[in-house]
Amino acid sequence: MAQSNASSGQRISLHGNWSSRFAFILAVTGSAVGLGNIWKFPYVAGQNGGGAFVLVYLCCVVAIGLPIMMAEIMLGRRGRRNPVETMRILGEEESGQPIWALVGLGGVVAGFLILSFYSTIAGWTLAYTIKAGAGSFVGADAATLSAEFGAFIANPLVTGFWHTLFMAMTVLLVGLGVEEGIERAVRFMVPALVILLLLLLGYAITSGDFAAGVEFLFKPDFSKINGAVVIAAMGQAFFTLSVGMGAVMAYGAYLPQDASITSTSFAVAAADTLIALLSGLVIFPIVFANGLDPAEGPGLIFQTLPLAFGKMPGGSFFGVLFFICLGFAALTSAISLMEPAVAWIVERFDVTRQAAAIRVGLIIWALGFLTVLSFSHLSEFQFGRGTIFDNLDFLAINVMLPLGGLMITIFAGWVMCRNSSADEIDPDAGRLYSIWRLLVRYIAPVAVTFVLLSAFGVFD
Ligand code: PFF
Repeated sequence: MAQSNASSGQRISLHGNWSSRFAFILAVTGSAVGLGNIWKFPYVAGQNGGGAFVLVYLCCVVAIGLPIMMAEIMLGRRGRRNPVETMRILGEEESGQPIWALVGLGGVVAGFLILSFYSTIAGWTLAYTIKAGAGSFVGADAATLSAEFGAFIANPLVTGFWHTLFMAMTVLLVGLGVEEGIERAVRFMVPALVILLLLLLGYAITSGDFAAGVEFLFKPDFSKINGAVVIAAMGQAFFTLSVGMGAVMAYGAYLPQDASITSTSFAVAAADTLIALLSGLVIFPIVFANGLDPAEGPGLIFQTLPLAFGKMPGGSFFGVLFFICLGFAALTSAISLMEPAVAWIVERFDVTRQAAAIRVGLIIWALGFLTVLSFSHLSEFQFGRGTIFDNLDFLAINVMLPLGGLMITIFAGWVMCRNSSADEIDPDAGRLYSIWRLLVRYIAPVAVTFVLLSAFGVFD
């Protein structure tokens, strides 16, 4: 990173700035594009009836996720510290209430929980890179691949190994503070991932039941919309855009003062949404052509994509490339899941970045075994929403991210004075700023509150 060149009067970032606006866009894209788009979006859409879910999800991205992303970047750049400290400083400055630091702390905890299961699933993609390379998908049918996946996740030694490897890579990269590495990885890997998805789309169109897939994703059956679908869709919008826990706020702290928050957020949200939809358009035609169950759950992509790679010419090669790209996309997201905690510990306790990364990484790694075991020895151990993984996933994504986002809208829309937010987002306070303010003050907080209350049965 280049050293900070913030003009006088503005706070100076402790860790320098992104080298350019483009570098920042790449970093936020790297955070947003990951397993949420390729792994989670299709299976959650499948479990929640398809089109109705997709429609609510798109509304949530536009009306809730996007304005919160802008708010987070704005707060990060104004505070110029880790999310805990940023919220403390700004809380003090705008309202005399340092207690707002708790929003940052909540984000740190959400990051721990999310990364603990994120890493397990990322480990699956690493393992599937090897499987693709070994040619184990060639000619295999759906039943064989499902059985293979079942046997794979049932072995915690193997999945634990891949989880460990993924966490080690994350800790290494976060410890090194490799912004340039992230920039470079995102610059090549995200376009490569899109090209591979387009290739798979070609397969889905020619060999899958494309019409059924399109209908499933885009023809909403409004009778299917209920509280559970809405909370799933809203959580997915938060998760896929990386908002509600301070990850984007942490990155905003390094954003040069002259970069536009609005256009960056629009670009990232658009790219992220298109990649998720593309993934859905690949998966569902394969699901329907092979008699698979769209509501299969977290194993969905691992049982469908290998079918495509097993049948297309050069499939082993493309399979390896695809899972490598997905692994990298997961890595750039994992880095941002750790960033709030690591930046906070470095600034607060004055330890080196490496030491902070190792400590945080060890806790998350240990926590990750709860998820590893949720798919094997503890799969029968069910309570609340289901397995331990199901509960962690619901708590972090569907409750903590929306709650964090709600607090951010209240702070950015109501506590912070208009001049401060206009100053960062659009000094001319034009029409876009007015729309943003309307969304952040009224639409997003009311919608999030309503969905959260209904999820807990308050309206029943
Ligand atoms: N947005 C990432 C994905 O779609 O895979 C996951 C994520 C990263 C969520 C960072 C939250 C976060 F702070």
